[in-house]
Amino acid sequence: MTVRRKTTIGTLRAHKREGRKISMLTCYDYSMALLMEQAEIDTLLVGDTYAEVCLGHATTLPATVEHMVTITEAVRRGAPSTYLVGDMPYLSYQVCHEDAIRNAGLFMAQAGCDAVKVEVDRRLVGTVEAMSAATIPVMAHLGLKPQSIQSAGGYRVQGKLAPDAQRIIEDAKIMEKAGAIALLLEAVPVEVAKIISESTDLPVIGIVSGPFCDGQVLVMHDMLGYGAGHPPPSVKQYAQLRSVLVDAFRAYGEDVRTGGFPTVEQGVSMDANQLDRLQHALAGRSE
Ligand code: KIV
Repeated sequence: MTVRRKTTIGTLRAHKREGRKISMLTCYDYSMALLMEQAEIDTLLVGDTYAEVCLGHATTLPATVEHMVTITEAVRRGAPSTYLVGDMPYLSYQVCHEDAIRNAGLFMAQAGCDAVKVEVDRRLVGTVEAMSAATIPVMAHLGLKPQSIQSAGGYRVQGKLAPDAQRIIEDAKIMEKAGAIALLLEAVPVEVAKIISESTDLPVIGIVSGPFCDGQVLVMHDMLGYGAGHPPPSVKQYAQLRSVLVDAFRAYGEDVRTGGFPTVEQGVSMDANQLDRLQHALAGRSE
């Protein structure tokens, strides 16, 4: 068995320098993490989309540090060599620097993350600085920020107007200066993603932001055709698991109803001697 070398931020930076694109997927459990590591995905994000795709909430806001750290630990057990990013949930870093550092510390020390992700713009530069100073590797998530969806008024592409685009480009620089080790761009125009990716040494991961980022992330449920909702049209589906799973569940239900499963052979039979003894014992008792 070949042992995979641990992917580090140095590996991701080297990939960027060499023009090799970085793959990232969201992951929320041990079994999937095993498969993603086997498939040599470069980096896993335990996203707060967990609240939507696993818990059935309408937004990511109900994700909690406790939940997120627990599932991140499980993902780490399944993918010990993959670069692992923990997503800090709503209000776990926005309230004060102390909270941000203490909560990020749980992702790092308890769950074994390589970095944490926070949804930011220039207003949270002090937080990113404080976290970086406390030796926490921060991935700065810019553009569409799902945790701000209530104040932003919906899920829509950010930076289509020149002043907004300029602001996001400046925010990227501000986060780099504040000590961020990587950027994630969500739903920004391809031109904006290109300018940012080309103007920094930080690895830039994109989602719904076009092909010019240094890497791409997709929500696992979307790319597997597995989730309950409808993924954005720009998501490429690599499987249609929903129909595969429903067919399997239906076949199982039918088998149980009709006696197709389990057969006697699929059960555990007693040793003939033991069965004999049992039958004698039962016959004796009924006499
Ligand atoms: O929580 C998440 O899954 C994310 C991705 C959409 C990038 O932040």
